[in-house]
Order: sequence, then C-alpha cells, then structure tokens
Amino acid sequence: MSTSSQPKAAAQSNAAAQIELHKALAPRYAYRYSFAFSRRFQEEWHAEMIRQTPKGAKRLLDIGCGTGFFLAELEAERPGAVGLDISHEMLKVSEEYVPNAKLVTADAEHMPFQNAAFDTVFCKGSLHHMRDHVGFLKACEEMLSDDGLLVMSEPCNDNPIIRLARAIMYRKSPHFDVGDQGFTKKGIVALTEESGMEVLFTKKFGVLAYTFAGFPDHLGILRFIPGADLLTRAFIRIDRVLCAIPGLSLLGFHILVVAKPKRG
Ligand SMILES: C[S@@+](CC[C@H](N)C(=O)[O-])C[C@H]1O[C@@H](n2cnc3c(N)ncnc32)[C@H](O)[C@@H]1O
Repeated sequence: MSTSSQPKAAAQSNAAAQIELHKALAPRYAYRYSFAFSRRFQEEWHAEMIRQTPKGAKRLLDIGCGTGFFLAELEAERPGAVGLDISHEMLKVSEEYVPNAKLVTADAEHMPFQNAAFDTVFCKGSLHHMRDHVGFLKACEEMLSDDGLLVMSEPCNDNPIIRLARAIMYRKSPHFDVGDQGFTKKGIVALTEESGMEVLFTKKFGVLAYTFAGFPDHLGILRFIPGADLLTRAFIRIDRVLCAIPGLSLLGFHILVVAKPKRG
C-alpha cells in the first residue's frame, strides 16, 4: 500500500543504510536510558506525545519504535500498541523492554498495514530518516481511521545555529546517515498538508533539557554533576516556558506536529 514515488533502488539503499546505522546504535540507546536524568527528560517528551492520544483511540502504532522506550510508556497507558521498526537490532531491545507489545520488522516506506488500521499513529524521530517524506506521510494518512491522529516529533531546524550544528553532525558523525535531515516548521507543515492531512497544531519542544539531559551518549556533562536529576527537572520547567514564548520557541530542538486526515 505504499504510495512512495521514489525510485525503488534509492529507497532500498536508504533502508539498507538505516539498518546498518542502527545496528551500532541499539546499545547506545540502552546506555542513554541508563541515566535517571536522561530518562526524566525522555519521559517528559513521551508524556507530551501520549497526552495527544484521543480518548477513544484503541489501535495505536509507533513507527520507528526503536528500542521501545516510548512504546513502553504508551503500552503502560494504552495496552495493545504496535511497534514497527526496520532495525532488527533495535527491536531486539524492544522485545525485552516491552514484552507485551506487538512488534513488526518492516520498512516504514513500504507499510505492511491496511487502510484505516489505526486510530493514532506516533512517529518520534523517524520521519527524518525517510527519503520520500510525502510518500511516508501519505501512507500514515491512509493507515488512519477517519477521526484518527498522527502525532509526530521531529528535529526542528528553524534556528540557523541548530540547523548548522545538525548539518555538520549528520554529515560527520557515524551515528547519522548523510541523507538524514531536520525540518523547518514551515517545511514539515507543508509536507504534512501535501500528504492529505490537516495540521491541528505544532509545538516546539526541548531546549536546555534536550541539550544537556537528552543524549548522554553524545554530550555527557550531566553524568558528572551531583543533582543531575534535579537540574534536569529545572531545565524541563525552563524549556516549557521558552517553548511557549513565540520568539524564544525558535530555540526548540524538536517540533511536535499533530495532524488528522482531511477527508470528504
Ligand atoms: C532516532 S531513532 C528513534 C527511536 C525511537 N522512536 C525513540 O525515540 O527512541 C529512529 C528509528 O527509526 C528507525 N527507522 C529508520 N528508518 C526506518 C524505516 N525506513 N522504516 C522503519 N523504521 C526506520 C530506526 O531503526 C530507529 O529505530
């Protein structure tokens, strides 16, 4: 049912690149989540996404569920969620971490699900690994029920300094693929609308807590600071304020997008 218009060879090579890349990343995620301060930050992020789930939504899909840390929190609140990922290595961690969830190994650019199979589709940090963004988002639209919701959080590049830092990191770091990319708010809204969805709202997420607590495998300074958990709580509160102020929300590293199918 994929609507991807990308040439197959290119899509296959990205799939192969993502599988290879995430082989090495699976243990890094486990390391990342081994710190209480990092878990604190990620839980705040997950709660922000999970609270968007409509009350009656029962059929939930997490695309690019990776090692399952988001899926575990979703599953705790809404049992029966499905996790999909292309990386067997990432899913192996999920199998241990969320033993009750249904896990599917598949390429999200070639979705294995039927139309209207889900009430809410989550996508935390996976869109930027795809190459045919509109094709992927169209597939999400098709998988949603008429009153279903897409809830995604993706790297935001509205801030030119963040954009530059990301471009260098994605190009130079072995932990990213050169084709991975962040989005401007305008860009991600346009892609979502082009795929046949209406964007209900967007919200920036993560400034200080994202930088200092989110990724101890990249920037580990809080590992050496006593009271890192307390500091992270303070950062989270400051970030909430910063992200709510229009001019300052430019500092946000991620953008949350909530959208619904635009049908009939
Ligand atoms: C940045 S990680 C995010 C993992 C998880 N959502 C989280 O926040 O911890 C991106 C995930 O997307 C998966 N991924 C990348 N390309 C994919 C594709 N084409 N189809 C399915 N999953 C893909 C990767 O294997 C990886 O687990």
